[in-house]
Amino acid sequence: MKIGIIGAGNIGGTLARRFRELGHEVLIANSRGPETLTAIERDTGAVAVTAHEAARGGDVVVITIPESKIPALPSDLFDGVPDTTVVVDTGNYYPRERDGRIAAIEEGVTESRWVADQLGRPVVKAFNTIEAAHLGSKGKPSTTDGRIALPVAGDDANAKATVLRLVDQLGFDGVDAGTLDESWRQQPGSPVYGADRDLEGVRQGLLDATRERQPAWRATAASPGSYDAPR
Ligand SMILES: NC(=O)c1ccc[n+]([C@@H]2O[C@H](COP(=O)([O-])OP(=O)(O)OC[C@H]3O[C@@H](n4cnc5c(N)ncnc54)[C@H](OP(=O)(O)O)[C@@H]3O)[C@@H](O)[C@H]2O)c1
Repeated sequence: MKIGIIGAGNIGGTLARRFRELGHEVLIANSRGPETLTAIERDTGAVAVTAHEAARGGDVVVITIPESKIPALPSDLFDGVPDTTVVVDTGNYYPRERDGRIAAIEEGVTESRWVADQLGRPVVKAFNTIEAAHLGSKGKPSTTDGRIALPVAGDDANAKATVLRLVDQLGFDGVDAGTLDESWRQQPGSPVYGADRDLEGVRQGLLDATRERQPAWRATAASPGSYDAPR
């Protein structure tokens, strides 16, 4: 499969390496240009490209950049990209540490619905609940008991099925977590977020989730601070 990755940080770099190990073709982009991605090319075998090329070259395109940077993506990023191309959003909204206030999310729009609205394109929400280091190292064969499970939310059943297959290949049990508007069940602060639960644990965690954003995951008048000093 051809996979475009926009964002070459913790998650983008990890997915590039793992997808290459699985034999996929990977195109990877950041904001500063392909010439700044020679190390990741050398280390993973991914091909560094522009964001436009990553969006146009993948059967699956993963957007994995800070939430606050989403509006900085080119407005024509997906122009001419077929509807069958699956767009994945790995993002989490960190108002107090990194992103500052995003009004629509504060008012209750799910994080990935907001991303889809910004992109003008449906997305599948995946890989947001697991730390990059665990995504890179804790995958296990499908025959293994107690694999870490990852929730996958989205409105298009075919797109979601494609992502669930990739989750399985990466060594995790995929869980259909419903529609994009239900994806608050896997957002930061939810029982499944960063918890590395197994299949039953994730299913239960999705059921146990509550919609209200917790104060720690809401912006304040002083947001954003830093990871060391969230505000
Ligand atoms: N870190 C984790 O363990 C983890 C786990 C689950 C989900 N997430 C979520 O996944 C997303 C990515 O996290 P991360 O930790 O991988 O981020 P990161 O390490 O900070 O990397 C961010 C990447 O995004 C690129 N980027 C920023 N603005 C861009 C733009 N306008 N166009 C193209 N590329 C752009 C940056 O490229 P430049 O350096 O060139 O600007 C950089 O390669 C975030 O929403 C995060 O909350 C992270």
